[in-house]
Amino acid sequence: MIKKVKEAIMCKLEEKNKSCCGSSHLVNQSILLKEHWDKAYLKSPESKLGWYEEDFSNSFRLLDQCELNSSDPVLLVGSGTSRLPDHMLNRGISKLWVLDISEVAIQEVKHRLGEKLNYRVGDILQPETMVDIPQVQLWFDRAVLHFFTKKEDQDKYFIQLKEKVNIGGYVIFAEFSLDGAEKCSGLPVLRYNQTMYQDCLGDEFKLLDSFDHTYYMPSGDPRPYNYSLYQRLA
Ligand SMILES: C[S@@+](CC[C@H](N)C(=O)[O-])C[C@H]1O[C@@H](n2cnc3c(N)ncnc32)[C@H](O)[C@@H]1O
Repeated sequence: MIKKVKEAIMCKLEEKNKSCCGSSHLVNQSILLKEHWDKAYLKSPESKLGWYEEDFSNSFRLLDQCELNSSDPVLLVGSGTSRLPDHMLNRGISKLWVLDISEVAIQEVKHRLGEKLNYRVGDILQPETMVDIPQVQLWFDRAVLHFFTKKEDQDKYFIQLKEKVNIGGYVIFAEFSLDGAEKCSGLPVLRYNQTMYQDCLGDEFKLLDSFDHTYYMPSGDPRPYNYSLYQRLA
């Protein structure tokens, strides 16, 4: 079933590429990004993806500091095919939204977890992507924010975040750290530390914890990340 969905999407992508008349200015950034990420998920099995993880202890080191009720809405931004929602469900966090620009990734998670989650395919930078997603008590982002290298895209991202996170709610970032790689999935990234996140969040968010962690890709290459947790005060 999932194989058929993947084949159908691959055909759609190939057709689109064939019919492209070279007027790339007509193709907007979101569509190109969606194609990039759909291809990334079609090309590799989940366990070979350069961001695949089995051990979520770093995320839970921060998640365990959030005073969440089981019914608090949580948004996993650019969650791909991550197994984090499976682990959160096991811990009783049940009102989960997973959002990703890649339809392929979302279909894979839907196949795995069905009606246990709420799903959204869309570009986090587009306001329409957020329609009908409730205000959330936790916004979780691993390896998504760092792709927004242009100031205008960072601004759009933080506008979306500030519109969605409740007062008293939490934000977790896990992005490439200052000594991290300069690219991820072939795309340039902006590397972060806790001060840089804070500058984007502003004074209404308070840093609760931050640490560096070196993740090892399935290939064995190290990828240093910075994990930071904030709470919204106002
Ligand atoms: C490096 S992967 C990380 C996936 C997941 N967070 C994890 O830790 O396994 C980046 C993810 O961000 C998604 N993504 C990239 N740009 C996006 C955007 N503008 N809006 C929503 N998702 C996006 C990609 O499709 C991909 O799933």
